[in-house]
Amino acid sequence: MVIPLGLSIESLRRSSGTFETAVGLPPVVYSDAQFHDFEMNAVFGSGWLCVGRQEQVPAVGDYLSVTRAGEPLIVVRSSDGNIRVMSAVCQHRAMCITASVDRSDEDMLSPPELQSGAGRTFRCPYHYWVYDLDGQLVGAPEMGRTPGFDMAEVRLPGLPVEIWNGFIFTNFDAAAAPLAPQLSKLDEVLVNYCVESLVTVDPVTIPDVPFNWKIMVENFMEMYHQSRLHHGIHDFAPSSGASYADYEPGDVAMFGFSETLEPDGGFNPTMKALFPPLPGVTMEERQRVIFALVAPSLLMGFQADSAFWFYVDPTGPTSHALSMAYIFPESTIELHDFTESLEAAIAGVSTFNRQDMPTNVATQLGMQSRFAQRGRYSWQEGVLAQFNSWLVDRYAVAAGE
Ligand code: FES
Ligand SMILES: [Fe+2]
Repeated sequence: MVIPLGLSIESLRRSSGTFETAVGLPPVVYSDAQFHDFEMNAVFGSGWLCVGRQEQVPAVGDYLSVTRAGEPLIVVRSSDGNIRVMSAVCQHRAMCITASVDRSDEDMLSPPELQSGAGRTFRCPYHYWVYDLDGQLVGAPEMGRTPGFDMAEVRLPGLPVEIWNGFIFTNFDAAAAPLAPQLSKLDEVLVNYCVESLVTVDPVTIPDVPFNWKIMVENFMEMYHQSRLHHGIHDFAPSSGASYADYEPGDVAMFGFSETLEPDGGFNPTMKALFPPLPGVTMEERQRVIFALVAPSLLMGFQADSAFWFYVDPTGPTSHALSMAYIFPESTIELHDFTESLEAAIAGVSTFNRQDMPTNVATQLGMQSRFAQRGRYSWQEGVLAQFNSWLVDRYAVAAGE
């Protein structure tokens, strides 16, 4: 693949390394359609993409419908108890088999609504071809007179699956190197959080967030803006307490620590945790927030009392779908006042979102300006140079350099 727009790897590499020397990526990579197509292949065509959490499909037949990099996928607990990821594209005439066909007049021409649920088979709504939980075609009406048609030869394409700390990942590259060995440094930091046993609560997806996916990742990961954009409401965790783990080529995770002034801080107007501390975390861990990225697009935060994940799925050069949820220990979910506390926590986070989201929308506008610069970074946003390093390495591999 050729990098579009005449961008050279040498020029892009100026964004790699550390904050001391790196400059921002060329603004055009945040908005150009040709670059977006290149990036979808270079980054999302071979990266490990999170498609959900294992506790979201607890029983055989439970399935999630997701779209990743434009591909409709099914994440299902198969008959042998293992989680499978397969294409949701019918092998007859390509109807998306999880799409709802029962829609209102207003919605009938809008993007498909993919349904999640539970069942023993998947039946395509169009001509009723039926697939089992492994993706094997097991029913196809009126195909008996079609010479040479053999159901046994037809199945939904399966994708690789890897489960890391309860997060389900898949990859469009069947030959991709395993993910977990590339996350060992992050594993060490998360050991006391028992991430595998945490439970996702009420995930939501915003389908049409109007800025480039990298703007979202950058805003989530850098701590420079905490004491500025979030002045006042973020005072319990000032930017001066930011630090980032070292990044080396080959790492897939980037992560950092935001020290809080007191133990058990929280992203809400009280600045205090609303739930009991996570069982197993140390006093030191209760006095910081970990922000982590499993590149390209799983974002996680770990606080004293809870954790949360964001999934960023590009839908175009200047848009993405954003999914998010809290994850808690079972013991917290069972508390009698859990629902009330959760509402307060969600309302608290929205006070941050009301500052972050307009900022990201305005950054998108600026990135499309003729006056946008490849600016320099502060030490408090060192993770951005790390993210750039990871990205530019992917661009270079795709370009054969
Ligand atoms: S497209 Fe699925 S059965 Fe025809
Ligand atoms: Fe923010």
